[in-house]
Amino acid sequence: MIELRAAHDDDYEIFTHLFRELAVPDPTPSRQKWRDEMAPHAAVALEDGIVVGYCYFQIFTEVGYVRHLVVSPTARRGGVGRALMADARGRFSEAGCTRWCLNVKPDNVPAIRLYQSLGLEVQRESATVRLAWRHVPRLPTTTASAVLDDAYDEAVEHRFDLPKGQLSAARALPGRVLVTLLEGGVVVGFASFDPAFPGAFPFRVATAAHARPLLEALRAHAAPDDDWVSVVVDDGPLVQQALLAAGGEVRLQILHLAGPLA
Ligand SMILES: CC(C)(COP(=O)(O)OP(=O)(O)OC[C@H]1O[C@@H](n2cnc3c(N)ncnc32)[C@H](O)[C@@H]1OP(=O)(O)O)[C@@H](O)C(=O)NCCC(=O)NCCS
Repeated sequence: MIELRAAHDDDYEIFTHLFRELAVPDPTPSRQKWRDEMAPHAAVALEDGIVVGYCYFQIFTEVGYVRHLVVSPTARRGGVGRALMADARGRFSEAGCTRWCLNVKPDNVPAIRLYQSLGLEVQRESATVRLAWRHVPRLPTTTASAVLDDAYDEAVEHRFDLPKGQLSAARALPGRVLVTLLEGGVVVGFASFDPAFPGAFPFRVATAAHARPLLEALRAHAAPDDDWVSVVVDDGPLVQQALLAAGGEVRLQILHLAGPLA
């Protein structure tokens, strides 16, 4: 029998084991990050009182975002993944969301089958690219200025079709640096940078030439000892090609799926 409950701080150890099953090139989130940012927005599934899976999600104004879904290898194909997704869907609907979304690796057939059976469909292909800070000057550039305040948050969400509320949620997270790039008063870039990672997600630019000024603005907030940054490229092949031509490396291919909440 599958039981679900809200995640606790004390689930950190089992979380670290399950997190590895995502097989992503990201560092395991710290205990503090689990406690402060993840556990309050996560559910765990239990079988015979043992945690066998978790789902970590974020609720923005109209969109529910499934960030992690993992079931222990020994408990798979028993309906745990579907139960966790049903729970997430219920929470999203209750919070007034009208859509839900998530990211998945293109070769993750079990997960994609599950998501498609729930009405989620592929919206775009993205990639996580790692670039050495010293290679940023190799990128093409343009004149643009960076601002840190929230005056343009609505314009950023509109320009890049981000879920409403995603920026205010990011601003509430400890240590995040949110940078908006402007050209002639118009939004041409945005990044939510976590120097502890170090990575930026979302990392959005109007054109490939805007990646460099945005990265240069992020670098001012990077730890001096970090020699690379990881960014999730959501703006198509031209931006990705520019980063790769500058010496970047694709670390992860991603499909972005979204669908209505019935
Ligand atoms: C994806 C994952 C969460 C599914 O969990 P699960 O508990 O095994 O899934 P369920 O038993 O609830 O199955 C739900 C549906 O998923 C699909 N599915 C699950 N495993 C599958 C497999 N090996 N092959 C094909 N489809 C599969 C099926 O559509 C299944 O529905 P069905 O049983 O009616 O055929 C699990 O495989 C997992 O943790 N994988 C590693 C981590 C991961 O990749 N997470 C997703 C990140 S986006």
